[in-house]
Amino acid sequence: MSKTILITGGAGFIGSHVVRRFVNQYPNYRIINLDALTYAGNLENLKDIENKDNYKFVKGDITDAQFIDELFEKYQFDGVVHLAAESHVDRSIKDPLAFAKTNILGTMTLLNAAKELWSDDYNDKRFYHISTDEVYGTLGETGLFTEETAYDPNSPYSASKASSDHFVRAYGETYGLPYVISNCSNNYGPNHFPEKLIPLFIHNIINENPLPVYGDGKYTRDWLYVIDHARAIDLIFHEGKNAETYNIGGFNEWQNIDLVKELCRQMDDKLNREPGTSEKLITYVKDRPGHDLRYAIDATKINQELGWSPSVTFEEGLAETIDWYLNNPAWLKHVTSGDYQNYYKEQYQD
Ligand SMILES: NC(=O)c1ccc[n+]([C@@H]2O[C@H](COP(=O)([O-])OP(=O)(O)OC[C@H]3O[C@@H](n4cnc5c(N)ncnc54)[C@H](O)[C@@H]3O)[C@@H](O)[C@H]2O)c1
Repeated sequence: MSKTILITGGAGFIGSHVVRRFVNQYPNYRIINLDALTYAGNLENLKDIENKDNYKFVKGDITDAQFIDELFEKYQFDGVVHLAAESHVDRSIKDPLAFAKTNILGTMTLLNAAKELWSDDYNDKRFYHISTDEVYGTLGETGLFTEETAYDPNSPYSASKASSDHFVRAYGETYGLPYVISNCSNNYGPNHFPEKLIPLFIHNIINENPLPVYGDGKYTRDWLYVIDHARAIDLIFHEGKNAETYNIGGFNEWQNIDLVKELCRQMDDKLNREPGTSEKLITYVKDRPGHDLRYAIDATKINQELGWSPSVTFEEGLAETIDWYLNNPAWLKHVTSGDYQNYYKEQYQD
């Protein structure tokens, strides 16, 4: 094996796509997937690669410093791709401290371990921190977030991610730790836990349950297919410049209500329901506090420096996503019933 790479949060939504990509693209790398298997971690996401020779799953918590130090000592990682986080804004409003612990302290624990292991020779080492466009706060009706936009987070989630980004930069400035950061817009695609808008609404449409839309539905997000995000992460990890930030986005803004209507249209078609059937499920609900009006990413830098651009249109990505959920009813059933949490026990004999 030419390199040993730690991927944190690899049982989650985006992490599982990143793990799959690295395991398949780089047979010479040993990929260690570290995940605490919180409610958001689901090893069923990785069934197709779990027996590959260059892949290993380790269950553990990024906030446990002793455990993390021992893990770095044992595997002598060459690089870290850090995705583990508490990631749901609504949950951060209910329990902000949990977000500070995992997203800030957890990131610092990993940074410390990397610094300790690598400080004699930083050559060829890289700490890659995956972040969100939500650190930039909210936009009005015009403008885009660039890499120079000042941080202005509004939710406990985005504040905790902003803080972790600052610590990564500070370890670079203070200790010379080689790092790169990317800030990405909203992802969608297969294996997304059905608490977030697109998978939740697909699930509700299948079951003919209400579709709760916040406020007036005018909130605007820039959507990116998760497989394109994983491609961007691979590219940045290997070719991104040290101590730089890259924004990743789909140049693909949708108001929530328009997105929900497009989803309803495609679902009616795929489920052979009368056009307009699913739209009747839309219900407007009380707004989330501190709700950011609009996010939109300027992805010019990654496009011009690294040649990355999204490979699918939103309509194509959404169609593939819906097909995946319709073709994987067992995955959805295990997630909604909680059965997915037994998978680790069955597979790894905990
Ligand atoms: N989902 C998006 O649209 C989006 C957009 C931009 C950036 N991001 C960032 O990408 C990363 C992954 O997001 P996601 O949507 O896949 O999240 P997710 O919630 O689906 O997955 C997070 C994973 O981290 C694990 N985890 C949580 N706490 C842990 C801990 N203390 N120790 C070890 N593992 C722990 C969970 O078990 C889970 O598998 C996050 O850092 C998030 O901030 C997400």
